[in-house]
Amino acid sequence: MNKFFQRDIISVRDLDKQELETIFDAAEKIIKLDPNERQEIARGKTLGYLFFEPSTRTRLSFQAAIALLGGTSLGIADIASSSAKKGESLADTVKIMSIYSDILVLRHTLDGSSRFAAEVSSKPVINAGSGTEEHPTQAIQDLFTIRKEKKKIDGLKIGIVGDLKYGRTVYSLLYALANYDVEVHLTSPEVLKIRPESIYEIKNSLSFTESTNIEEYLDDLDVLYVTRIQKERFPDEEEYLKVKGSYVIGLDLLQKMKDDAIILHPLPRLDEISTDVDKTKQARYFEQAEYGKYTRAALMGLILNENGF
Ligand code: NCD
Repeated sequence: MNKFFQRDIISVRDLDKQELETIFDAAEKIIKLDPNERQEIARGKTLGYLFFEPSTRTRLSFQAAIALLGGTSLGIADIASSSAKKGESLADTVKIMSIYSDILVLRHTLDGSSRFAAEVSSKPVINAGSGTEEHPTQAIQDLFTIRKEKKKIDGLKIGIVGDLKYGRTVYSLLYALANYDVEVHLTSPEVLKIRPESIYEIKNSLSFTESTNIEEYLDDLDVLYVTRIQKERFPDEEEYLKVKGSYVIGLDLLQKMKDDAIILHPLPRLDEISTDVDKTKQARYFEQAEYGKYTRAALMGLILNENGF
């Protein structure tokens, strides 16, 4: 039996290096597989999605992924049009969804929401973003992109810049990177530094520095991972306005980077990467978005098939 069969994916911390590599290899297989064979992997299976927060790529890539595998999807993209608006509990909403589907994907504003959903769901739950806590499938996609574009993960110097306090993709990425031999340089405004309590468990397995100056390590990086300042998570808009636009990656900064460095971003991008960077060879965030479809297909294929595919 494959280790992912019928398993919930709530935190990257539940996955070891070998399991991450199994997903990456499965994603490579999906890319290469004959389209007709791909369609057999989730034939007759239904993905149910519940999004209590806005999403473009995550939801659409899950839907594209299940379609790629021959399955279908149904769900709630805008919670205002569901019975949650009438006051139905998250537990009941999840229970109902697990009657109509074979696998559930949940995005919610609250930390712990996916873990709770997995407890009440009769079907496997995948966390598609839980508050400021985690976004595990984004990290799987991010590491797959690094592996694909740089041909390795071990030995790389990785810069992460932006909102390190509220950005959930950052935490999942760090938890995943703690399985590898990498050097991490964190850059953020002072008030958006990483939450020490959230990386307490990995502080001995991940080597990282913290700074407010993006130029400190720029010329040394193999990967620059840029994140959006998470406006919606600030308790006070005034505080957001103070840090808005803190870092903008434009052609001027790009020139200071190594020729073969790559720039990633989970997206959506606001002003933190200027659009003239898009056409440069370092920009890989659109490839990254595409790999999200294959890595999510790989993960669902493994969860749904007892003997893998
Ligand atoms: C991210 C998220 O929702 O955490 N989006 C995504 O899924 N790619 C990042 C963000 O919103 O900034």
